[in-house]
Amino acid sequence: MVRRPSLAKGHTVAGFDIHRIGGRIGAEVVGVDPGGPLADDVVRDLNAALLAHKALVFRGANLTDESQLEFAARFGPLTKAHPTGVPSVDGKPEVLPIDGDDHRANHWHTDCTFVRTPPKASTLRGIVIPAYGGNTLIANQAAAYLDLPRELRELADKLWAVHTNDAGQPLLSTDRADEYRKMFLATIYKSVHPVVRVHPESGERGLFVSGFAQQLVGYSISESRAILDMLQRYVIRPENVLRVRWTPGDLVLFDNRNTQHYGPDDYDDQPRMLHRVTIAGDVPVGVDGGKSYLLEGDDAAHYTPPVE
Ligand SMILES: [Fe+2]
Repeated sequence: MVRRPSLAKGHTVAGFDIHRIGGRIGAEVVGVDPGGPLADDVVRDLNAALLAHKALVFRGANLTDESQLEFAARFGPLTKAHPTGVPSVDGKPEVLPIDGDDHRANHWHTDCTFVRTPPKASTLRGIVIPAYGGNTLIANQAAAYLDLPRELRELADKLWAVHTNDAGQPLLSTDRADEYRKMFLATIYKSVHPVVRVHPESGERGLFVSGFAQQLVGYSISESRAILDMLQRYVIRPENVLRVRWTPGDLVLFDNRNTQHYGPDDYDDQPRMLHRVTIAGDVPVGVDGGKSYLLEGDDAAHYTPPVE
């Protein structure tokens, strides 16, 4: 019997309030201005809330690129915008524009798991929000792990998966999106990660499968797909999924080590722009203590600083 971590129904920490959104993932943080100077104990408690709830929503935070960078940097060293040829915001190498005209992230994934040290966490800031649609879904892979039947959990504990940026993401079929895709694939990365990752801060186990996971070590592609799809069904159960409905100025901080996310392509040709600033992560560790390793590409030192 695996016990779920108990989370308080709603509580006050370091002078701010946590209003939970779902029973398994997501909370709104009320009473703290992420754009203002933050005391160390506030940052410590925000990080603890992130570990507990996986995704934190700050309504009406109204940050700028500069204050988003400052806020994210309180949680660790930052990555550059992207490991591939995808460009940053002009003059801001750590800020990734997420522009609905470039691509639509309508597939479940965990950011940049094709590099050996995928990000710890990301901040997403809503700038241009469509009148309808364009929400962000975030799924709790630790809760999914607890949902697995014991025999399946024991199998998953032993599996390792090859993640690559060339895993067949959906296409938008416009010239601009084709150009973006070429930049996304300018360098091919392949990294091998545990299918069950032990969280480096909380020790919690979680599935770590992502849309970039292509093949299980020791299995054919088709065998891998069947097993990965079975595990993925637990990740995307509605109980495990938060839906963030954006308003301009909102900020979301999510833990990239035990979540996946999805951007539904349901806003037609309306403009949508978010800015993402990402906090660097460490080398994933599996249940047996083994660490992720690289199969193809480089250690992405131009993108992410080493975090031990
Ligand atoms: Fe993403």
